[in-house]
Amino acid sequence: MLVKIVKYITKKGGKYWPSAEMKKIAWVSDNKIYAKALKNPVKFWEGLAKEGISWESKWKKGYEEKLPYFKWFVGGKLNFSVNCLDRHLEKKGDKIALTWIPEPLEEKSVKLTYRSLHSKVCKFANVLRGFGVKKGDVVAVYLPMIPEALITMLACARIGAIHSVVFSAFAADALKARIEDGSAKVLVTADGYYRRGKKVSLIEKAKKGSKGTSVEKVVVVNRLGGSVKGSKFVDFNSVLESADEECKPEIMKSEDTLFILYTSGTTGKPKGVIHDTGGYAVQAYWTTKWDFNLHDDDDVMWCTADVGWVTGHTYAFYGPLLNGGTSLIYEGSPDFPDFSRWWKIIKENNVSVFYTAPTAIRMFMKSGEKFIKSKDLESLRVLGTVGEPIDNDAWNWYLEKIGGGRCPIIDTWWQTETGGTLITALPGIGPFVPTVAGMSFPGVQHIIVDDKGVEKKKGELGFLVQKSPFAPGMLHGVYKNHKKYVETYWRFWKKFKKPYYDSSDGAFVNRDGLIRITGRTDDVMKVAGHRMSTAELEDAINVHKKVNECAVVPIPHKIKGEVPVAFVVLKSGEGSEELIAGLKKHVDNKLGPTARPAVVYFVKDLPKTRSGKIMRRILKSLLAKEEPKGLMTLVNPDSVEAVKGVIGDVKGE
Ligand code: WT7
Repeated sequence: MLVKIVKYITKKGGKYWPSAEMKKIAWVSDNKIYAKALKNPVKFWEGLAKEGISWESKWKKGYEEKLPYFKWFVGGKLNFSVNCLDRHLEKKGDKIALTWIPEPLEEKSVKLTYRSLHSKVCKFANVLRGFGVKKGDVVAVYLPMIPEALITMLACARIGAIHSVVFSAFAADALKARIEDGSAKVLVTADGYYRRGKKVSLIEKAKKGSKGTSVEKVVVVNRLGGSVKGSKFVDFNSVLESADEECKPEIMKSEDTLFILYTSGTTGKPKGVIHDTGGYAVQAYWTTKWDFNLHDDDDVMWCTADVGWVTGHTYAFYGPLLNGGTSLIYEGSPDFPDFSRWWKIIKENNVSVFYTAPTAIRMFMKSGEKFIKSKDLESLRVLGTVGEPIDNDAWNWYLEKIGGGRCPIIDTWWQTETGGTLITALPGIGPFVPTVAGMSFPGVQHIIVDDKGVEKKKGELGFLVQKSPFAPGMLHGVYKNHKKYVETYWRFWKKFKKPYYDSSDGAFVNRDGLIRITGRTDDVMKVAGHRMSTAELEDAINVHKKVNECAVVPIPHKIKGEVPVAFVVLKSGEGSEELIAGLKKHVDNKLGPTARPAVVYFVKDLPKTRSGKIMRRILKSLLAKEEPKGLMTLVNPDSVEAVKGVIGDVKGE
């Protein structure tokens, strides 16, 4: 197909703005929308809900707030899978809903039309019903990037079951903890997947993680040609084939839970973030449409995130489908067989919207630049980035090398908890500024406050909070844990009666009124865009039989953004290279290789306060070769010299 090369941005006053061509095709191009939406956010969102989503019955009340909880579209009824599939069938039944690119080069891509996806989803929904899964039950999903992940998730949505997706790179223990928290009856998994040209097994971890839990049935996708035995295990395709294609959707209340997704907070145990049906649908629909300027006629959207993370849920699957668009997903690694793979996929499939993370951009800058041919990238229209702050160099590189200096970069700030993007520039409005996320999405308001909730002035760094009324896609609690929900997100409301959701991110508003995110203010790390808490990693290391205690802190890393460094106090004896390898392996087994510490130091003692709190801040300063402050509060100041003694030249490589 011949692609017309269009310039979608133009430079004015040192900044990038949408070009006339972009304005022409943009869903929103007038910045008055922000002020208009904020005049009455509830009315604004009600208008969007009516226009974007198909309801079985309309809501009685747009928004209801009893902090720390709030509800959207109260009394409204809908089915989420109907919104993703059925409503498109008449006009777009033969349109491609999902293109799946398997990693092995000899395997052909799989294209599922809306009609074929609908049929598979209905069948699998019946399979789940047959296993006794009912409305409100949790189904655990431990799948790689294959179409069955989408089929399973939508099948859950069809019958009102709650899906709980667990990242396939997580270890068996992490899977088990999530299965147990949600009391999942069914687990859907695969025998494995392809990564970097190799077969990676998943089934062993799935077996281990589900053993002795509430799971009664394990449905296994046969991706690698394996077969499963045992009464608990069934083959995905065989059960699908024999299932009935008619499946009446369960009509859900807007506030009924669509999914839970576990994410890391300050304390060790991950929290099950709850997302509802109606509010999430509205935000997923509109943010996909407006942020990426997605048109359902010719756009192909590729969000490179794994389904194990919220970005995969909302922008690889749900947002594009709610919009009747085409989504592309890829099973494997960006460097297989070499670094040209992604760009070939873009070219061969005319990808127009591309959404990835700064860590991938930095990796290509470093290792893959020579594989990029501008000719391969002419179909691109909008580029997105997410997951961590993007630095000036990476932003400019993305703009020039991938976007050919033609495409706007949409730096989207959001979180697992927010369900959809919340702070970004819109392609038809701009401006597109390196390192600056932009404005709150229309109808949403963020401010920067100090630790008492008092608003900061422009340019001053503080805590990023969202003001009431909260965006429709926001979380509705932590699964079975009210206390955690209040403690984690509502400290400004609890202490100072201010109706603010605390994002735990630092930020400031720049001269132009745009928001710049500076990063987490708590003990949460972003390692290659993956969210993980230092406490989670410490808990995992601490259960190693040789470890007495440990402290984990992140250090900057050129490609991954940050990586964890562990300071370990042994019960007895000396550390060794062998033990370092053993500890890394132990973390792989407990959490997964994404959490593996980059460096392990053995120390005799960790700097602690009188009350026994480990001073990670001091360790961080020492790693950065800065003079640590506040040593007076330490009960063991000698520990500082000892730590200094073991730290070599850490370059974060
Ligand atoms: C944390 C949330 C939301 C999808 C993926 C991450 C950081 C996210 C940006 C951005 C700077 C960002 C924040 C946030 N973050 N997007 N555009 N610029 N930082 O979801 O795993 O829940 O992580 O990611 O620190 O709190 P998550």
